[in-house]
Amino acid sequence: MKKLQDTVVLVTGAASAKGIGRAIALAMAREGAHIACADINKNGCLQTARLVRKEKAQAIALRADAAKADEVQKAVDSTVAAFGGLDVLINNAGIACFKNLIDLSEEDWDRTFQINSKGYFLFCRAAAKAMIKQGRGGVIINISSISATLAGAMKVHYCASKAAVHMMTQGLALELASAGIRVNEISPGSIETNIIKNAGIREALARIPRVKRTPLGRPGTAADIAPAAVFLASDDASFITGANLVIDGGLTAGQPAPQPLES
Ligand SMILES: NC(=O)c1ccc[n+]([C@@H]2O[C@H](COP(=O)([O-])OP(=O)(O)OC[C@H]3O[C@@H](n4cnc5c(N)ncnc54)[C@H](O)[C@@H]3O)[C@@H](O)[C@H]2O)c1
Repeated sequence: MKKLQDTVVLVTGAASAKGIGRAIALAMAREGAHIACADINKNGCLQTARLVRKEKAQAIALRADAAKADEVQKAVDSTVAAFGGLDVLINNAGIACFKNLIDLSEEDWDRTFQINSKGYFLFCRAAAKAMIKQGRGGVIINISSISATLAGAMKVHYCASKAAVHMMTQGLALELASAGIRVNEISPGSIETNIIKNAGIREALARIPRVKRTPLGRPGTAADIAPAAVFLASDDASFITGANLVIDGGLTAGQPAPQPLES
């Protein structure tokens, strides 16, 4: 028996070729779920939907800007209309740009919060409303970041936006438990996706030492994240809510072992 047979899943930020959203959509499709792929990038979403169908699952592609309440509501309504309900929300759409405080504009700050924090709130609210109405519980998984709890220079806006998601997850886990809706968070570490490329070369360079410091000795890929999302969405996790699953190759576990001095 597949773990998510006939479950209806809405994945935001599902368009990106090597992205976490697409990897989760495909992993859940393999477990029997029907997938609504939402993203500001409609063409990428159409491609993800095509790949989902190759896994013999049903899929729709929806263009939705996570920062706009009306587009978010429409995405949830379209999912319910297409598949007759909504069981799992994967809140994943996000952006990053790396700048020091002095160069950080008000627009940078606002855009980061509009997508990374307000967008998560809007999707949580619209999805919870639909789940409560249908009365069979549900699952919300917020893709946060180790940056929610581990500060970093040149990304205070990104860290703060993800810290908001961290607290939102725990608060909503408490608030929605009585409706049978579990709310959890996945905090990826360094994962090789387009977000790194789009964030700017300086940050990409700054990450190299971080990858070297990662105890498991390699950067992660989206395929490292997807199975955790499948687990949290499935009945195997039926007693897990308000949790933060860190997937970072050990990066935030503590100090790495000292390296021998080079002679
Ligand atoms: N890659 C990493 O190292 C890493 C680490 C920690 C957390 N994350 C988080 O994982 C999530 C996915 O990122 P990714 O690494 O797959 O990056 P990605 O750039 O490959 O994917 C992000 C997706 O979000 C979409 N998006 C951006 N703005 C949007 C908007 N306004 N409305 C709808 N969709 C929008 C993009 O089009 C893209 O498809 C993000 O929330 C990111 O912050 C990534």
